[in-house]
Amino acid sequence: MVTGGQVLLDLVDGLIHNGAKIHVLDNLISGHLDYVHPLAGLHTEEIRSKESKEIILREKPDVVFHMAAQVEVGRSVAEPEYDANVNINGTINVLEACSKANVKKVNFSSTSAVYVDLQKDLISEEDFAVPLSYYGLSKLTAESYIRLFFSS
Ligand SMILES: NC(=O)c1ccc[n+]([C@@H]2O[C@H](COP(=O)([O-])OP(=O)(O)OC[C@H]3O[C@@H](n4cnc5c(N)ncnc54)[C@H](O)[C@@H]3O)[C@@H](O)[C@H]2O)c1
Repeated sequence: MVTGGQVLLDLVDGLIHNGAKIHVLDNLISGHLDYVHPLAGLHTEEIRSKESKEIILREKPDVVFHMAAQVEVGRSVAEPEYDANVNINGTINVLEACSKANVKKVNFSSTSAVYVDLQKDLISEEDFAVPLSYYGLSKLTAESYIRLFFSS
C-alpha cells in the first residue's frame, strides 16, 4: 500500500516490477492520475477519512509507504491548522489502521525541513531537529507519533 506522491512513481514501478500488488491511496489534491501506475489499484481517498482506514483494514497490506502529505512550506505558514491536520492527524489515522491490520512495516517519508540548519552540505539524523516551518514541525511530530505507536 502506498499513500500519495509523485516521487513514488519509481518506487511503485519498482515494486510492481518485482511482483508486488500495489494499492495507492491518494485524494489527488496535488497528485495526478498520470502518476499512478496502470497496474496499481487507485483509491481516491482522503487519508484522514474513515474510508481510508477501512481500505487499509480490507486490503491488509504487508507494507505501507506513507507519503501522502501537505508538502508546501508556504501553505504550512499560511494554514498551519490544515498542515497539521493532514500531516499529523492523517498520519495518526493511517497508523491506527496499520496497527489494526497488522501491517508488518510502515515506511514514512519525512523531510530535511525537520532540521534547523539546512545550509549544511550533508544533514545527519543526529543533527539538531528544530524545524523552522510548520511543515517541518508537522513532519517531525508525525515521526514522533510513529516512534511511539510502534514502541510497545
Ligand atoms: N519532493 C521532495 O523533494 C521531498 C523531500 C522530502 C520529503 N518529501 C516527502 O515525500 C512525500 C511525497 O512528496 P512529493 O514531493 O511527491 O509531493 P506530492 O505533492 O507530489 O505528493 C503528495 C501526495 O499526497 C497527496 N495528498 C496530499 N494530501 C492528501 C490527503 N489529505 N489525503 C490523501 N492524499 C493526499 C497528494 O495528492 C499527492 O499525490 C511527502 O510526504 C513529502 O513530505 C518530498
